[in-house]
Amino acid sequence: MAKNSLTIIDNRTGKEYEIPIEEGNVIRAVKLRDIKTGPDDFGLMSYDPAFANTASCRSRITYIDGDKGILRYRGYPIEELAEHSSYLETAYLVIKGELPDAAHYRAWEQNVKTHSMVHENIKNFMQGFRYDAHPMGILVGTIAALSTFYPEASKIQDLESRRLQTRRLIGKLPTLAAFAYRHSRGLPYVYPDNELSYTGNFLAMLFKMTELKYKPNPILERALDVLFILHADHEQNCSTNAMRSVGSSHADPYCAAAAAVAALYGPLHGGANEQVIRMLTEIGSVRNVPQFIKQVKAGERLMMGFGHRIYKSYDPRAKIVKQLAYAVFEVTGRNPLIDIAVELEKIALEEDYFISHRLYPNVDFYTGIIYQAMGFPVTMFPVLFAIPRTSGWMAQWAEMVRDPEQKIARPRQVYLGETLRHWTPIDHRPEPTMREDAVSDVL
Ligand code: CMC
Repeated sequence: MAKNSLTIIDNRTGKEYEIPIEEGNVIRAVKLRDIKTGPDDFGLMSYDPAFANTASCRSRITYIDGDKGILRYRGYPIEELAEHSSYLETAYLVIKGELPDAAHYRAWEQNVKTHSMVHENIKNFMQGFRYDAHPMGILVGTIAALSTFYPEASKIQDLESRRLQTRRLIGKLPTLAAFAYRHSRGLPYVYPDNELSYTGNFLAMLFKMTELKYKPNPILERALDVLFILHADHEQNCSTNAMRSVGSSHADPYCAAAAAVAALYGPLHGGANEQVIRMLTEIGSVRNVPQFIKQVKAGERLMMGFGHRIYKSYDPRAKIVKQLAYAVFEVTGRNPLIDIAVELEKIALEEDYFISHRLYPNVDFYTGIIYQAMGFPVTMFPVLFAIPRTSGWMAQWAEMVRDPEQKIARPRQVYLGETLRHWTPIDHRPEPTMREDAVSDVL
């Protein structure tokens, strides 16, 4: 009869071990420790650089089927949320697990908006950055600084404190992001207008000039809201893993979120949308696409905005973003880079290299083109990812804090370095050339 277990025979000892299979396909790595050659043996462990096949948590927030191109938050398909929901409603869903009724939604919106202001000292703090500071760098530093304004955030086991920090972070992120943008432009900061929607207010803080009341364009406001929905969570991606990992030491959520933003900054993660625009600009014309594809196939270049650790088919978010681009162009005028992107996608999807590597457009492939058409400088693109991902980070962090199985994140290593050596005086050490060679391999 079929059993939910795995039988392992250790050929070194001939011993047999039975390991339970949980949730249909999960074995506990710690069970491998029982497999030993003798009492002094450490036992087996699994080696999995970059967590390619290791689950670090049990989660109920986001479901992805990378082969089928499925993404759901709390069971709801991303396509339905993008069509019908708003970002704030989706954030509520991601954090609390259910869609709100009307009264809860009103209260939630009110609670988030109440926290859209930042302390004036934060504004002064931001003014200390150089005029050309990258807004992601400003965001990393400023979110970490919030920790010093709210020391009670360290009470991570306290539900009310967790709720308060969640509202604060979601409420303040657009303000910090807009201030970072205005800083880079040398423009005065614009304070939040809580009569506007979450995204409408963000647009106002970014683009308001001398008019008394900023009126966001409803199509652009909705487009940004949809983009925020698409970015709200994505299970255990690099920045969420950073959030959980730093949070696992019981650091407060501002410090953990600063680490998450730092992880998102990298060009392989949230920085990819910025790189896509740089790549498309460099390609310059549809004519040059075949030459670029040749370089990618030769392994000389990465095609930014393509490929994903989890999706081995079309990223469902990229499909929505591509459609959205044309709606935005109705207002902003066409971004000519779209033609290069569409041609790149068309050729790539027919090429054996991309088919055999299962490389498809990811969410970042078309987002940058929309952001650029809306008037955002490329340095703001990863910031536009960080704002909505804050709800996912906070949901994942709260899940981690409440999970009795979680402990401080602390992976093992496979040590390949020197065995025991003894210190020698400086003039007794080996030839410097030998040592320099060894050292230069590392740094
Ligand atoms: N262009 C060309 N080749 C690629 C690409 C790409 N964009 N992505 C992966 N490959 C190749 C890679 O060279 C490797 O080839 P081989 O097996 O012949 O050595 C193979 O595909 C597997 O790649 P990998 O780097 O082992 O895959 P990964 O799961 O570690 O990396 C990734 C995933 C997203 C970092 C990678 O696909 C990549 O660098 N893409 C470009 C950057 C990008 O668009 N990032 C945004 C990700 S989506 C938003 C987010 O969640 O952050």
